[in-house]
This record gives sequence, C-alpha cells and structure tokens, in this order.
Amino acid sequence: MRLRFTLNGEPQELDASPTASLTEVLRSLGLTGTKEGCRIGVCGLCTVLVDDLPVSSCLFLAPCAEGRQVWTVEGLARRDPAVVAAFVEHEGMQCGICTPGQVVMASAARSELGAGAAEAEIREYLIGNLCRCTGYQSIVMALGSVVAG
Ligand code: FES
Ligand code: FES
Repeated sequence: MRLRFTLNGEPQELDASPTASLTEVLRSLGLTGTKEGCRIGVCGLCTVLVDDLPVSSCLFLAPCAEGRQVWTVEGLARRDPAVVAAFVEHEGMQCGICTPGQVVMASAARSELGAGAAEAEIREYLIGNLCRCTGYQSIVMALGSVVAG
C-alpha cells in the first residue's frame, strides 16, 4: 500500500506492507536510531513521537502513520537539541540501544511535564524505557535539567 506521512519534518511517500510495523518502515528508510528489542511494547527501545505523543513503534502499524507527523531520535537532535545536550552534559547516555528511546521519551516529557516537575514525576514518565545497566540516575538528572529550564 502507498503510505504518506511527515518524517522529521519532511514529507515521505513509500510503498509499505499493510502489516509492517512503524519500526520496520523507519529502519528501511535508513533511520536506524530507532531500535527494536522486545517487540511487545515493554522495553521502550523503539519509542518515537507520532503527532507529538510517544508510541512504541514496534506495535504501531505503519499504515496508521498515514497523514501524521512522526519524529525519530534523528530528527529530535534538530527539533529539541536541548534534550540531546542535557544527555551529553549529564552523561545520560550509556549505550546506543536504549539511549534513542530515552531521548525521545525525554523530549515528550519536557513538553508534557513542564517546569517544576518533581523527580518522582520524571521517573514515572520514564518507567517504560528500560536500561538493563540500570543507569537511570544520570538520565533523570539530564531530564530534570531541561524540564526545569
Ligand atoms: S521493541 Fe518496542 S517496546 Fe520493545
Ligand atoms: S545503557 Fe542502554 S541498556 Fe543500559
């Protein structure tokens, strides 16, 4: 089927299987920042924004992206550089597997939580993004700095 959506601010049109996941389509376009882990919506590696809401792209059927705005970690480096800079400053990134999803979710949290969010709220927001190294403290610090700012 023909699929049209906006990807990182640019129009996209391509042929996609009606059963393809959004992760598969994004990676087929060379955007390999979006990772795939559990494929059942548990780990958060595949998190992207669809119409500014975080979704697990492994469970999101690509046809459902028709006409929507999709942002991946690659685009957020341009759209929300403060979040990326905060991850660098606070050393919130450890591996390339979980970090992209963490950055996307942090950008969503920054929009939704707003200034003055408590650390507990930040931690709850990030609950669906797993890091098996348990390096959460620096991620929370990074997000705390941009939410507060
Ligand atoms: S791969 Fe999508 S949530 Fe784990
Ligand atoms: S830093 Fe990525 S899984 Fe732990």
